[in-house]
Amino acid sequence: MNYITLNNGVQMPILGLGTWDLRGRECEESILEAVGLGYQLIDTAQMYENERQVGNAIKRCGVPREELFITTKICRPNNSYQGTKSAIEVSLKELQLDYIDLLLIHEPYREAQEMYSAMKEAYQNGKIRAIGISNFNARWYSDFILDCGVIPAVNQVEAHVFFQQNKLRQRMSEHGTHIEAWSPFAAGKNNIFEDTVLAAIGQKYRKTATQIALKYLVQMGFAVIPKTSHRNRMIENMDIFDFQLIDDDMSRIRKLDQDKTLFGWY
Ligand SMILES: NC(=O)c1ccc[n+]([C@@H]2O[C@H](COP(=O)([O-])OP(=O)(O)OC[C@H]3O[C@@H](n4cnc5c(N)ncnc54)[C@H](OP(=O)(O)O)[C@@H]3O)[C@@H](O)[C@H]2O)c1
Repeated sequence: MNYITLNNGVQMPILGLGTWDLRGRECEESILEAVGLGYQLIDTAQMYENERQVGNAIKRCGVPREELFITTKICRPNNSYQGTKSAIEVSLKELQLDYIDLLLIHEPYREAQEMYSAMKEAYQNGKIRAIGISNFNARWYSDFILDCGVIPAVNQVEAHVFFQQNKLRQRMSEHGTHIEAWSPFAAGKNNIFEDTVLAAIGQKYRKTATQIALKYLVQMGFAVIPKTSHRNRMIENMDIFDFQLIDDDMSRIRKLDQDKTLFGWY
């Protein structure tokens, strides 16, 4: 596994497993499968209603806690100082953990600063190793960091070959916030798994279009959290660290950028 060093020195795996829409037994088994294959980062959220299953899998997997990296996110209706303070305790309980590796504000709520105050306290008390935000565009990010005290370690946003987030990435790198791509496969939109440009490039490296889509993001410095419940796809998605895309191929993929959301988030 390759790692990113966050702005507070914490090491974060550059690739992990997304768990949106994984529920119940399927969620638990998928995480066990992934961790068994070497996945260390698991991305969940209170909104996904699966923290309990994520926690069960962590308990059962047999991998030392310090080798795993667990991200969760706080959302409405806990978008207040008190709400966030309580929500952190709920996440710790559901996940059955003593600490969370990365805690994010799920969306740019008007109350983001007061939520962040509660997060900073938990961070200072050792309950969270790194804090950050999610779904903040360049303008919201710039406003947020004016007053936040602790610069977010991560901003998790929609990013894939069709929406490469260049402006946001550049703005954040100036301030030391790392970008993490949600829906790195655009959740299958635009026929990404059979994209002809990605497939043609993949042939040169004996890789699939899917692997090229992920590799491009990783080579650009994004952390990625593709979701799958299939073992063969978990293997495919993590098998991207034994080659480098050459500049010419990076340029061809850069041209796939439509510079707009495919999900209507921003
Ligand atoms: N912060 C936020 O607001 C936010 C928003 C959205 C998502 N997220 C996070 O980001 C994660 C990833 O995003 P996502 O789940 O929306 O979409 P995604 O990872 O871009 O795509 C997931 C889809 O791709 C399929 N897939 C995965 N690997 C594949 C492969 N090798 N070949 C073919 N198909 C493959 C999956 O199907 P199968 O499962 O059937 O294999 C699933 O349908 C989420 O799970 C969640 O953790 C965060």
